[in-house]
Amino acid sequence: MKSVFNCQNCGYQSPKWLGRCPDCGKWNCFEEEAARDQKVVENQRFPARHAEVFTLDTIPDASSERVKTGIDEFDRVLGGGIVPASVILLGGEPGIGKSTLLLQIAKSLQGKQRVLYVAGEESPQQLKMRAERLGMKGDDNFFIYPEVSIELVLENIERLQASIAIIDSVQTMSLQSINSAPGTVTQIRECTQRLVQFAKTKGVSLFIVGHVTKEGVIAGPKLLEHMVDTVIYFEGERKFNFRLLRTVKNRFGPTNEIGIFQMTSRGLEEVKNPAELFTGDQEHRRPGVQVSSSLEGTRPILVELESLTTSSAFGNGRRLSQGIDVNRLCMIIAVIEKHMGIRTGEYDIYLNLVGGLKVSDPAVDLAAALAVYSALKDREPKALFSIGELSLSSMVCPVPFMEDRIAEGVKLGYDRIVLPKSRKKLRLPQKKGVVFHEVSTLQEAVRAAFE
Ligand code: TYD
Ligand code: MG
Repeated sequence: MKSVFNCQNCGYQSPKWLGRCPDCGKWNCFEEEAARDQKVVENQRFPARHAEVFTLDTIPDASSERVKTGIDEFDRVLGGGIVPASVILLGGEPGIGKSTLLLQIAKSLQGKQRVLYVAGEESPQQLKMRAERLGMKGDDNFFIYPEVSIELVLENIERLQASIAIIDSVQTMSLQSINSAPGTVTQIRECTQRLVQFAKTKGVSLFIVGHVTKEGVIAGPKLLEHMVDTVIYFEGERKFNFRLLRTVKNRFGPTNEIGIFQMTSRGLEEVKNPAELFTGDQEHRRPGVQVSSSLEGTRPILVELESLTTSSAFGNGRRLSQGIDVNRLCMIIAVIEKHMGIRTGEYDIYLNLVGGLKVSDPAVDLAAALAVYSALKDREPKALFSIGELSLSSMVCPVPFMEDRIAEGVKLGYDRIVLPKSRKKLRLPQKKGVVFHEVSTLQEAVRAAFE
């Protein structure tokens, strides 16, 4: 039998063992696996067939047949429910709640769909305990199948005529015909390929659980993400009890949509009004605090930023941030130093996003700048809520969805709002006592927020 060495990180192949992958640069990640016969594989992928071509109006609509799980946050992330015969990859760190979420989806689908839960990681007893804790009752449309062989799994999905199958997890599954250990690149790739093929030919929707490595990618090759229809990540700091469900790829809907859940003793609960979750008590005006709005998917989320500055021991200030890219923070500090004329070198500057959230929306730049300024000057801001992207020339620039973001802030009771001047007239909410400061530079924003 011919064998090859595969990089377990990126899937790079080599005829001999290598210490370091020339492709992704990772050390010590090569494993010997059975070589695939390339010809056979190619024939499998492209069977000879008569060309079948369509015009747009001869293709039947698919959108109307979506299966709603009844868990709104989840349905929205998928783009309106589960598309029949689609393959959905659910990634996340161990313990984040993937199995819990899928069990709850199964519960929600009880009586409507025939669901098979393939348990590769937990024993049926463990699953039963969890299902009971989630308030799930047994019925003859929900099956648990402890198995790790893909051949048997596929056979039984078909035998039980399940319309939805959950594979928990792909790293534990293996094809008996392949001579590699479960969890290796070859096994993951081949298993997924079989699963995808099965879903498409038999019309079964599949959920595949994939563990995520420390670096935050699904263990095994990136290839996995190309093969499936939808990739969702379940994330959130484990220490905080809320979880974000994020689409990173979706052939049947928008990407970058997010759903928010909270882990409770009865499983995951949907968070319908996320705004309150991420902001502390707004009555407490303290130096260094600002609230802003970050767009996550199609919904604005209010985020609270806090900054702290201390004098640096070595006159060579450190910059640390949680939840915002540290390079972004350095850039913002540079703008403050240059355009506000404040020397920052002798300070250590910390910036934290309350609630363990991570954002990359530049709309929080201005709030970050005001928070840092407020901490440096040890002055309480009068305006707590600000939105805008900061340019290196200290201009405050408009960001998309201004009206939605502002509405959210006003709804939560912020009464002084600093926002970028925009060419287009904004429809601002009319509420008594609410003041809007339209600014075009950081200097103007500081004046509006502190005077
Ligand atoms: P789990 O769903 O097994 O995560 P994964 O499949 O992603 O590895 O783990 C969920 C975690 O949540 C586990 O540490 C226990 C906890 N949990 C609750 O707090 N409440 C619950 O009702 C359940 C079922 C789990
Ligand atoms: Mg699990």
